[in-house]
Amino acid sequence: MVREGFELIAQGAEARIYKGSYLGRETLVKERFKKTYRHPDLDEALSKERVKNESRAIVRAKIAGVSTPTIFYVDLEERSIYMEYINNAIPLKLHIDTKIENKIDEKIWMNGLGESLGVLIAKLHSKHLIHGDLTTSNILVKNELIEGEVTRNDAFIFIDFGLARIDSTAEDKAVDLYVLERSLLSSHSQVPGLFSVIMNSYQGHVDDKQRREIVAKYEDVRARGRKRLMIG
Ligand SMILES: Nc1ncnc2c1ncn2[C@@H]1O[C@H](COP(=O)(O)OP(=O)(O)O)[C@@H](O)[C@H]1O
Ligand SMILES: [Mg+2]
Repeated sequence: MVREGFELIAQGAEARIYKGSYLGRETLVKERFKKTYRHPDLDEALSKERVKNESRAIVRAKIAGVSTPTIFYVDLEERSIYMEYINNAIPLKLHIDTKIENKIDEKIWMNGLGESLGVLIAKLHSKHLIHGDLTTSNILVKNELIEGEVTRNDAFIFIDFGLARIDSTAEDKAVDLYVLERSLLSSHSQVPGLFSVIMNSYQGHVDDKQRREIVAKYEDVRARGRKRLMIG
C-alpha cells in the first residue's frame, strides 16, 4: 500500500511499520502484509481478525490503566492500524542496556523499574487481558519520566499487542509471565534479579484468588519449560 508522505521505518515478520502524518498528527501505521502461502480468502479473513484483535487489545489496555498508543484509525481493507507515534521514548531493552553499560548501580534503578512493570502487568491481567509477547522490545520508555528510584507508571508505553488475548485464563497469564522471564534471562542476563522484582510487585497487585491460581499455573509452566530444556 502506498501512503503519501509515509516512510517505511521497520519491517518485521508480520507487519510493516510506517511513519508519517495523519490529520496533522505524527502517526505510525502498522500494516500486516499478505501471506502468499495462504489461500487469499483465508489470509484476508485471518488478517482482518488479527488487526481487530490487536486494536481492541490496545484500547482495553489503556482502559485498564496501562499507557498504549492512541488509536487514530483502523483500516481493515488495508490491514492497517493508524496510531499515535510515541515520541521521546526508547525501547526498554535499550534503557536497561544503557544502565548496565554505564555501570549504574542496580540498587538505584532496578527496584523502581521492576515495581512499575509488575503493577502494569497486574493491571492488564486483572482485566483478563494478556499481552502475549512481553519482551523488552515491546515496551517503550519515556526517559524523562524516570529519575533513579522514582519511576512513574506512565513512563512505560506497552506496544505490539499482535498476540494479545482479551479473555485470558490463569494459564494464559502464567505463560505471559513465563515469556517475560525467558526474554529477560536471554536479553538481560547481567541483571538476573529483575524478574523476581517484577514478579513480587505483580503478586502484590492482583487479588488473592487470582494470585493463587496464576502462581500455581506459573510453577507448572516453569517445570514443563525446565523439563523441555533438559531433554533438549
Ligand atoms: N506507536 C509507536 N510509536 C513509536 N514507535 C513504535 C510504535 N509502535 C511500534 N514502534 C516501534 O516499531 C517497532 C515494531 O513495532 P511492533 O508493533 O513491535 O511490531 P512487530 O510485530 O514487527 O514487532 C517497535 O519495536 C518500536 O520500536
Ligand atoms: Mg514487536
